[in-house]
Amino acid sequence: MRVIIGMTGASGFIFGIDLLRRLQAEKYLVMSKWGRYTLKEETGLTEHHLAEYVKRSFSDEDLAAPFSSGSTPFDAYVILPCSSSTMCKIASGIGDTLTTRIAQVALKERRKLIIGLREAPLSTIHLEQATKLSQAGAIIMPIAPAFYHRPQTIDEMVEQFTSKILSLLGFETTLAWKPEALE
Ligand SMILES: Cc1cc2nc3c(=O)[nH]c(=O)nc-3n(C[C@H](O)[C@H](O)[C@H](O)COP(=O)(O)O)c2cc1C
Repeated sequence: MRVIIGMTGASGFIFGIDLLRRLQAEKYLVMSKWGRYTLKEETGLTEHHLAEYVKRSFSDEDLAAPFSSGSTPFDAYVILPCSSSTMCKIASGIGDTLTTRIAQVALKERRKLIIGLREAPLSTIHLEQATKLSQAGAIIMPIAPAFYHRPQTIDEMVEQFTSKILSLLGFETTLAWKPEALE
């Protein structure tokens, strides 16, 4: 399975990094300029530190990168975290960076697009654009961890959320609500 992870200038890098770490796939990374800034601000890390998890990283400015074209196959594109700005650009059909262009490719080629939106509160404009994307086939997956599993640590809370993304990608996870009731 070939998955591209996009990371933009929104809070929540702990989620994106956990997904990069756990996802068993051929992975590629593209990070926006403000993604790099926010990564450093939140974690002290640079894009260089994430290189071990991916086959290759591409510059957000590189619109000649292979995934800029629909002719290069991939199975899914997950943007985590996704800023409201990037989400609205994608919904408007803008593909002027590699981050946004890959999303346009995913939509036109009918490939899986998961948008890990992180913004609060959401304006009417954000909600309208999210609706448009959802109607176009994208999965809007706001960074909103659950608590019914009673996480004891931040890591457990993060893992629950990234497990949900793994299940959206088709991986089996141990996620289940009251599994004993299925017996
Ligand atoms: C430290 C920091 C945190 C930010 N957090 C968010 C956020 O959680 N959600 C959001 O939509 N924008 C956030 N922003 C604003 C975006 O980074 C800004 O709109 C930027 O243009 C997004 O560009 P990009 O989507 O190309 O990365 C944040 C900016 C900074 C500097």
